[in-house]
Amino acid sequence: MAEVTSEQRGRVRVLFLDNPPVNGLGFDLRTGLMAGIEAAMADDDVDAVVIAGAGRMFSGGADITEFNTPKSSAEPFLTQVITAIETSSKPVVAAIHGVSAGGGLELPLGCHYRIAAKGTRLGLPEVNLGILPGAGGTQRMPRLTGVEAALQLIVSGDLVPAEKALALGFVDEVTDGDVVDAGVAAGERLAAGGELRRSSEVEDKIAGARGKPEIFEAFKKSIARKARGYEAPYACIESIENAVNMPFDEGLAAEREIFKRCVSSVQSKALRHAFFAEREAQKIPDVPKDTPKTDVTSAGVIGAGTMGGGIAMNFVNAGIPVTIVEAEQENLDRGLGVIEKNYANTVSKGRLSQDAMDTRMGLITGTTDMNHLAQAEVVIEAVFENMDLKKEIFGALDKICKPGAILASNTSTLDMDEIASATSRPEAVLGTHFFSPANVMKLLENVRAEKTSPETIATVMAMTKKIGKVGVLVGVCDGFVGNRMLYAYSRQAGFLIEEGALPQDVDKVIFDFGFPMGPFAMGDLAGLDVGWRIRQEQEATRPKDLRYSPTADRVCEMGRFGQKTSAGWYRYEDGSRTPVPDPEIEALILSVSEELGIERRAVSDEEILQRCMYPLINEGAKILEEGLAMRASDIDVVWLYGYGFPRYRGGPMFYADTVGVKHVYDTMSALYDEHGEWLKPAPLLKSLAESGKGFGDM
Ligand code: 3HC
Ligand code: NAI
Repeated sequence: MAEVTSEQRGRVRVLFLDNPPVNGLGFDLRTGLMAGIEAAMADDDVDAVVIAGAGRMFSGGADITEFNTPKSSAEPFLTQVITAIETSSKPVVAAIHGVSAGGGLELPLGCHYRIAAKGTRLGLPEVNLGILPGAGGTQRMPRLTGVEAALQLIVSGDLVPAEKALALGFVDEVTDGDVVDAGVAAGERLAAGGELRRSSEVEDKIAGARGKPEIFEAFKKSIARKARGYEAPYACIESIENAVNMPFDEGLAAEREIFKRCVSSVQSKALRHAFFAEREAQKIPDVPKDTPKTDVTSAGVIGAGTMGGGIAMNFVNAGIPVTIVEAEQENLDRGLGVIEKNYANTVSKGRLSQDAMDTRMGLITGTTDMNHLAQAEVVIEAVFENMDLKKEIFGALDKICKPGAILASNTSTLDMDEIASATSRPEAVLGTHFFSPANVMKLLENVRAEKTSPETIATVMAMTKKIGKVGVLVGVCDGFVGNRMLYAYSRQAGFLIEEGALPQDVDKVIFDFGFPMGPFAMGDLAGLDVGWRIRQEQEATRPKDLRYSPTADRVCEMGRFGQKTSAGWYRYEDGSRTPVPDPEIEALILSVSEELGIERRAVSDEEILQRCMYPLINEGAKILEEGLAMRASDIDVVWLYGYGFPRYRGGPMFYADTVGVKHVYDTMSALYDEHGEWLKPAPLLKSLAESGKGFGDM
């Protein structure tokens, strides 16, 4: 139950925010807090008030689940509670521990004194939800820290450690003792005399920026690349600029208006969807929270190639020792060398200390003897994509690894059930599909095979979190969730260039939509030979009655594999990663169109977007129908973390809901009539469209 409880300590009243799990400041807590403050102010036995959090943190901020519901617009608003605190005659102290985020920090900013326990993380992460701090945070923070620091903190949304908050000036004291005791002591001290410091009245730190729009323009420029497409960072800047140029009350009122604008925006809804989708993906109906699991404290990786090396780095980055097995010493040395070089690069950029690098390298053991994996709790295989080889390895691992050890494969296309069949413990086998570069990309598709046990899933989902990844549980199919959808999208991109567009036209539309790059630039980055090899292997089984685009194969036949050969769909100047359109490719594309008897036509940007995104959504619908993803929001998480789908659009399935599933279905139906089988609408898309529902209603 959400409530504010109180405790009398001498002449100090302690109010505890109590609303597990994060003490979200919803309607009940706001009401309880207002009542607690009013009662304390009216009570002659109270000289000071301390506000603290019950449980594991002070507060994670406003209750996001209440946004856009009547409760969020019911008084008292958080701003009113904070104003009541700040204007009170008795001192109010915030005693902060765990996390103090969003409204859960704006509340302390309105108190007269702030103490944080060591280890507390504080910040205003609202921007990540497509909003700005809406309870005075943009007005009080710059008054305490100065404009530059406030811009940095609010626009990044970062949570910072208590010590940094102290240095920046928005915390007054850091304690390694009991924070409530320290709060009570501070309350007694403040009550004994001296003036109460009200953040809203501090002017000296913002005065210098008054009438200087250039400060804000320069900051906007500095974030332009990272914030491309996002509205909220600019809303935060606008409001901080108001703090500087308007009297406090006016700035606060303007903040409220900007907040209202943001909170009802599609972007904010999408970003909140992404926040909850990521957490929802961790919930697996038949793997309840209390499923027994092993804490992974040692791991093995087989294959020190592109993926194996990156996978191993994830473990040692999390302090988990890892044994890497290669078939040949030479390949092992090369693989370990790549890892070392990667770390050395990070050290040279100042993002890792030499000591930390040494510790990490020290956690890696390289060997050519698989028997060294006998004690590993998890072994991840990342050898060549070849079924016979993988089965041979799994058969060997089954004999070597200790009972209970989990055997995982990083395969991107192969049938996990068949791989599991090579062992006597299929319940301990699953896919862990990392994305390249594996040490950077956050997504991990954990692939549940037919016999994978709940214990194995629970262990691997927990391990995924421990190594800093976002895990999504998916089923077995070609390409799993992400790549299967990617095929549907890149296939259309291939057709579009045969019909009249050029790679740069398609890439521009996708970039403008918000992806970091379009499909052709992405192909060049990943290496075109990978897909080429897979297509060659699948040539015999490829359905010959379906349209096939040969252009990508032709590009590879020219020896153009992408960035690594300085030429692919684009050409690359020496040492540059910037794609430059190449007349040679244009000539190739025109000749392929001619060969196929396609009369080239003007392809509009709208068609490019729909031809790329709607088949992607359609494939997602098929995946849902087939039960290969548990929920539409899981698919969104896959695309947000594995492919750079613009987060402010929420992921492909959420995006479909925002443009309307009926519209997607109608467009797909028209495209199907025009272009045939590949664009056939999924039955689920049809049924949702007909019932006027969206993926979010499922
Ligand atoms: N409102 C509602 N639910 C919240 C919440 C919030 N502000 N913050 C977290 N939760 C929920 C999560 O959805 C999750 O629910 P689940 O158990 O059902 O999946 C549960 O609380 C625990 O969350 P985490 O798993 O994320 O817990 P962690 O301990 O890992 O992290 C945290 C804690 C750092 C507070 C993290 O939850 C977080 O970043 N929360 C969001 C913080 C935020 O954005 N605050 C701003 C809110 S908007 C605001 O304050 C507006 C104001 O300016 C007016
Ligand atoms: P790679 O060719 O870079 O590395 C494979 C490594 O395995 C080589 O170093 C090779 O020497 C080693 N190896 C081969 N046989 C071995 C054996 N018997 N014992 C020990 N080591 C052996 O390949 P890459 O790209 O790292 O791919 C590995 C796996 O990851 C494949 O299954 C691939 O499909 C998958 N994958 C690849 C992605 C990518 O973008 N490259 C993305 C996701 C998955």
